[in-house]
Amino acid sequence: MTTLEVEALSAGPNRQRTPVPRPPTPQAETVLTVDGLTVGTARADLVIDVSIEVRAGETLCLVGESGCGKSLTCLAAMGLTPEPLTRKAGQISFLGDDLSRLNENQLADIRGRDMAMIFQDAMAALNPVRRVGMQIAEVLVVHRGLTWRQAEKQAIDLLASVEIADPQSRAKAYPHQLSGGMCQRVMIAMALACRPKLLIADEATTALDVTTQAQILKLMRELQAETGAAMIFVTHDLGVVAEIADRVAVMYSGRVVENAVVDDLFEGPQHPYTRGLMACRLHAASESHGRIAAIEGTVPSPARRPEGCSFRLRCPHAAEQCIEPPALRPVRGGHWAACHFAGDFA
Ligand SMILES: Nc1ncnc2c1ncn2[C@@H]1O[C@H](COP(=O)(O)OP(=O)(O)OP(=O)(O)O)[C@@H](O)[C@H]1O
Ligand code: SF4
Ligand SMILES: [Mg+2]
Repeated sequence: MTTLEVEALSAGPNRQRTPVPRPPTPQAETVLTVDGLTVGTARADLVIDVSIEVRAGETLCLVGESGCGKSLTCLAAMGLTPEPLTRKAGQISFLGDDLSRLNENQLADIRGRDMAMIFQDAMAALNPVRRVGMQIAEVLVVHRGLTWRQAEKQAIDLLASVEIADPQSRAKAYPHQLSGGMCQRVMIAMALACRPKLLIADEATTALDVTTQAQILKLMRELQAETGAAMIFVTHDLGVVAEIADRVAVMYSGRVVENAVVDDLFEGPQHPYTRGLMACRLHAASESHGRIAAIEGTVPSPARRPEGCSFRLRCPHAAEQCIEPPALRPVRGGHWAACHFAGDFA
């Protein structure tokens, strides 16, 4: 057990923040550490005490139902908390630098050069009135100081690297002339243009058909292996998680309720919410037998969370003590869960 885990086990109810879950043996360089992040308004907290970490070459998947705080966590991690929301607590450290100590110019510089984000709706994220090759070239001119001539040439190479056929003529296309899958590839090419240290993909493959999704996931894995980028991959889809994650943080109602290495999570989920998500997936797979399990109810609104454990009103294991909020605590090496009964589930 790591020092951090021992510290967390012995921490009393007054502990201010959940420590960052880490694997027992740190290997690669830590790229991003989010430590005790809380984001919200004066009236409600939307992301609560979230602590995650991602290392070079590692993929952390953020999973959870709609409204659980996945996108806000990613935006805050990039120093882009949308107004009127504020970061109410917590620290974000990127390659050892505390983001709150950097000014807007320094932040913008890091965002363009070292961090990149890909969204679900690539078509909307691209500029509709500029040719895609020029959009990629612009990133290279602004952030890597290339001349336009060099940048345009490199943009074509990048389109080829994301496996767009005939990149020379595609570079001249406008976004509406490309398919959804191709636009997503263009976004990836743009994100990779500066060889970022951190790539955040927020539902980047959700809108794509299954075959295109599989191709894009494969491509992202290959490019990541090549560049050693750390990746945060947001998805609802546990199939995608199994495909791409090294580590998984499951979010529910603004909090991380389980955090584990992917194999541990699939072999022995220790939070009833994660178990419910997995049951949904298994039953969906056997849909033909007419047994579609869903987690009853919906995620509570941030202004109306139940007292104690936020999952209490939907949880099949809820008991008297669940009126007290469960802390995120280590269950075994590198596996954390926020449930009073974590560790008891086979
Ligand atoms: N700009 C904003 N202003 C006010 N509330 C917001 C804002 N952005 C998100 N929220 C609220 O914060 C909560 C978390 O939202 P977030 O977008 O992070 O969820 P998510 O997990 O990414 O969901 P989805 O899977 O639907 O993308 C939700 O209750 C949402 O309504
Ligand atoms: S603490 Fe209680 S209500 Fe919450 S997940 Fe665990 S068993 Fe369910
Ligand atoms: Mg989202």
